[in-house]
Amino acid sequence: MSIRAAIKGVMGYVPEDILTNSDLEKLVDTNDEWIRTRTGIKERRILKKDGWASSDMGAEAVKGLLKKTNTDPSEIDLLICATVTADLVFPDNANTICDKLGINSAFGFDINAACSGFLYALTTGARFVESGTCKKVIVVGTDYMSSIIDYTDRATCVLFGDGAGAVLLEPTSEEVGIVDSSFGGDGSGRAFLHMKAGGSRRPATLETVMNREHFVYQEGRSVFKYAVRGMAESIGEVMGRNGLDEKKLNWVVPHQANLRIIQSVSKMVGVSPDRVMVNIHKYGNTTSGTLPLCLWDYENQLRKGDNLILVAFGGGFTWGATYVKWAYDGGDE
Ligand code: UT7
Repeated sequence: MSIRAAIKGVMGYVPEDILTNSDLEKLVDTNDEWIRTRTGIKERRILKKDGWASSDMGAEAVKGLLKKTNTDPSEIDLLICATVTADLVFPDNANTICDKLGINSAFGFDINAACSGFLYALTTGARFVESGTCKKVIVVGTDYMSSIIDYTDRATCVLFGDGAGAVLLEPTSEEVGIVDSSFGGDGSGRAFLHMKAGGSRRPATLETVMNREHFVYQEGRSVFKYAVRGMAESIGEVMGRNGLDEKKLNWVVPHQANLRIIQSVSKMVGVSPDRVMVNIHKYGNTTSGTLPLCLWDYENQLRKGDNLILVAFGGGFTWGATYVKWAYDGGDE
């Protein structure tokens, strides 16, 4: 019997401060109706705690996960952090989170695949478990998007929020766990979604700051089209390879970038809306946080053996879908 990596617990963290659509109406030329109908977002959480950064939100989620799963920090072998807003360009958030929580015998690293980051990190973590290299792996997605959002740009500032989520992976020989993935990439997509300065191509200068180049730049309409296609194709591939049809599929867990993207993809795949996880109305797009925050919100409805497809699309472009057979009854852990 081959060994798979099973998700044994999930935990989220969102900051308490809420930024509503009507708050945004006071900052830019927008309105609640446009935001709700074009994106599905009603409010988002914003990190305002003094001295906090993305690692602190990630550490909160991991701390809660350790407690909930009765796991001692010393048992963790590996921690992978998905983020585009690490506290520093280097070192990584993963080791910072371990340090903050006394996870002393683990190694760690960050993955930057934008909104697909959590999915890529999850699959990477699963490989370390399946190969027998690690017994307990934490995968955490955390993004402090409000630190890289221009609150004078109505095209982007209404979309994003802050948050984090984490899962614990462990080996299993049962018929559950992370089964299969299909991933895609297209670097030419970087033209449509990127940050103009702050990297080695264009390091920070007075000019880059004055030009407001340290914020998310997005050509939304183009990204929208690629996102629908990339997500629908990868779900189709994973379903086809694993003999899944819409009746056998219990849940689609989509990246939360736009409710219209989620609805288009679900329709193309033929899954009814009541089996598609949605929480974009309360959190907006938290980038690496969306997928674990969905699992966290819907955990009580999940049953052992449920067939889930997690699907994401993001900057890079990066995209993909992962088939997960859920490993426990929600509410029982
Ligand atoms: O997570 C990473 C991947 N990202 C995504 O998947 C995001 C994909 N894109 C989207 O979700 C959508 O394209 C957006 C929500 C970003 C924009 O929605 P859209 O329906 O594509 O709008 P648009 O960009 O085509 O703009 C339509 C109109 C424009 O006005 P005109 O040129 O028609 O007069 C915009 O200037 O809406 C205007 N507009 C706004 N109006 C009020 C753009 N942003 C706003 C705003 N409030 N916040």
